[in-house]
Amino acid sequence: MAKDYSRYLAKLDLPTGKTILITGGNSGIGFAVAKALLPYHWTILIATRNRQRGEDAKARLLSIDKDAQVQVYQLDVSSRKSIVAFAKQIQIENVDIDVFYANAGAYRIPFAINEEGFEMTFATNYLGNLLLYDAFHDYLTNLGHPVKFILTSSITARFQRVKEDDLYGGKTYHKAKAYARSKVAVNMFYQTLAKNHDPLVLPLLVHPGVTYTPLVDKAFSNKTFLLWGHRFLRRFTHPVEKAALSTLYLLQNTITSPCFCGPRGPFHIAGYPKIYPLYQGNLKQAEEFVHRSQEILGIQT
Ligand SMILES: NC(=O)c1ccc[n+]([C@@H]2O[C@H](COP(=O)([O-])OP(=O)(O)OC[C@H]3O[C@@H](n4cnc5c(N)ncnc54)[C@H](OP(=O)(O)O)[C@@H]3O)[C@@H](O)[C@H]2O)c1
Repeated sequence: MAKDYSRYLAKLDLPTGKTILITGGNSGIGFAVAKALLPYHWTILIATRNRQRGEDAKARLLSIDKDAQVQVYQLDVSSRKSIVAFAKQIQIENVDIDVFYANAGAYRIPFAINEEGFEMTFATNYLGNLLLYDAFHDYLTNLGHPVKFILTSSITARFQRVKEDDLYGGKTYHKAKAYARSKVAVNMFYQTLAKNHDPLVLPLLVHPGVTYTPLVDKAFSNKTFLLWGHRFLRRFTHPVEKAALSTLYLLQNTITSPCFCGPRGPFHIAGYPKIYPLYQGNLKQAEEFVHRSQEILGIQT
């Protein structure tokens, strides 16, 4: 049975009636955030790479609240073409957005490259967010009210560094390192945005802690190992509804400047949300890395 954190949520200063766009909102933590916002009458925009999975998620939300306001959009964050088409659609429909939650992510996927030749983990977890920010920045600033732009980090970023000439953890592709390093890059993007942020687009960074979602399930082909791993991990990790709390914490009216939120428990693996400083971070290096990425993508810095 799904855990209920409504008592905790009631203590937060959460606004009502806002609109959140969630990339990858059809599943896992993104979906749990959407579900938790239903009692607060938020409009949920699910941006999903697979329309049917998006429609299924919408149906699940409507089965909880028949009056829920949910829209499904097609978006593949690893594809520039898809990002550009998605941004255009939002502009044409003149959709209001209070929170842009860049949640979609890929973990331990087999080596693959996208249509522009970039490795998929990096393209999905990092480059896609640079492109989304670029495609949406002017639109969001012209909405005439502050918008929260939430990036998604991971504890794995704490133990890796990333260099332009060694993105994936060695000469050959390493699934776990590629993921961790893509999240280091996300942290650096956050640092760069936070330094001089536009007053109308507030950059925020969330680490959900560790939780069992399809992301983890798909990452390991050995299901016996996974089953035992899950049983073991369940003791130290937290349910997806609790993982969603770190994002929900950032939606409060009181959060008005850039910050990083994650679970307060040991090693930040599980627990109720807390704001804390980013683990590491040489700002100059971060800026250089992000600016170089933007140059490679041919987008404005
Ligand atoms: N679970 C954890 O313990 C954990 C820990 C730290 C950070 N995170 C981060 O939290 C975020 C959400 O993960 P989750 O655990 O909730 O996993 P999840 O249930 O697998 O959700 C990931 C979402 O991203 C979507 N996605 C993947 N590639 C995409 C693409 N190219 N374009 C559009 N959408 C794409 C997935 O779509 P499909 O349904 O079509 O696959 C899914 O909706 C990720 O950024 C992840 O790195 C998770």
